Amino acid sequence: MTYRIAVLAGDGIGTEVMPEGVRALEATARRFNIDIELTHFDFACCDYYLEHGKMLPDDWHQTLIEFDAIYYGAIGWPEKVPDHISLWGSLLKFRREFDQYVNLRPCRLLPGIKSPLANRVPGDIDFYVVRENTEGEYSSVGGTMFEGTEREVVIQETVMTRHGVDRVLKYAFELAQQRPRQKLTSATKSNGIAITMPWWDKRVAEMSEQYPEVSVDKFHIDILTANFVMHPDWFDVVVASNLFGDILSDLGPACTGTIGVAPSANINPEGKFPSLFEPVHGSAPDIAGKGIANPIGQIWSGAMMLEHLGHKDAGDAILAAIEAVLEEADSNVVTPDVGGTGTTASLGQAISERIEKG
Ligand code: NAD
Ligand code: IPM
Ligand code: MN
Repeated sequence: MTYRIAVLAGDGIGTEVMPEGVRALEATARRFNIDIELTHFDFACCDYYLEHGKMLPDDWHQTLIEFDAIYYGAIGWPEKVPDHISLWGSLLKFRREFDQYVNLRPCRLLPGIKSPLANRVPGDIDFYVVRENTEGEYSSVGGTMFEGTEREVVIQETVMTRHGVDRVLKYAFELAQQRPRQKLTSATKSNGIAITMPWWDKRVAEMSEQYPEVSVDKFHIDILTANFVMHPDWFDVVVASNLFGDILSDLGPACTGTIGVAPSANINPEGKFPSLFEPVHGSAPDIAGKGIANPIGQIWSGAMMLEHLGHKDAGDAILAAIEAVLEEADSNVVTPDVGGTGTTASLGQAISERIEKG
């Protein structure tokens, strides 16, 4: 069969790391005889929004639903388009309307990269953040009253549903069940956020009864962030609401040396809609145009996409190539965020060559 993949590079470094993601994907497809067909779309701030006054065409849903997966770079160019307009007009729309309710974000200290945490070596940091991806704190329920006056009030409600929370918890428990350590940590804040979070804890406790082999603990989000830094080795699968998961999935990768390597999978596990694969990082206007962005987050996201499409061996081969290059490459091949003097292209090319070599 031919896998049809929609490619949306986006803005800023999205357009720089995506060619390396595509190069790695094509190298993998050749090696493993996987038939992929890539279709590129220019939906982004620069310059689709500026030309059309919207982030997506009206028929985006019919167009993209036809694909087996979406390979995504990063969106956002706040100088030209306010972030909440661009992100609610694209990425967050995809997550919600394609019901990609699991955001799976591996966090692993890779060989050859120095953790900013003292004495941490590969193996010490190796966990997943499972982030609820369609509701929670990212809600469109709320509004502004008395706008522009001294009585101005803004409200944005957190919305959690039993259906929405239970399905992401189930995914997280099943993931923990398959891992050797069988451990799940829940991110809570039931001391201060006294309606939704005690209820979240109750949902976790109830779900845990179905997975007796999984050991469960929980931390309030404040001390949990501290423990990511102090004791990253404690964690195996961390499940969190939308906002807490967002924060943890930048902090975790930062503990592994750079957010530039972190991948993510926005998954609709039932396969009713296409899932979306993207690096955790954004469009990084501060380094855009310099050709120095780390392409590993994009390439690793491609590995997660192939695994999702049923080609775990191909995904594993990409990760093995990433690790081999990081371990062996000269510093003029790897990018500055991991201590090198190389470029997006030099690192991407080395990984693709390694994939093809096997
Ligand atoms: P960011 O992730 O773009 O950048 C944060 C910092 O990390 C910057 O210093 C940047 O240079 C560095 N960085 C990020 N990716 C890197 C890489 N691959 N290699 C080396 N360094 C890297 O976050 P931000 O600055 O908060 O956001 C910039 C824009 O991106 C905003 O418009 C924001 O809304 C958007 N954004 C989009 C996504 C997405 O599309 N998924 C995710 C996060 C942020
Ligand atoms: C992410 C990003 C997005 C989020 C932004 C850009 C809306 O930070 O994918 O982690 O908050 O989910
Ligand atoms: Mn984020």
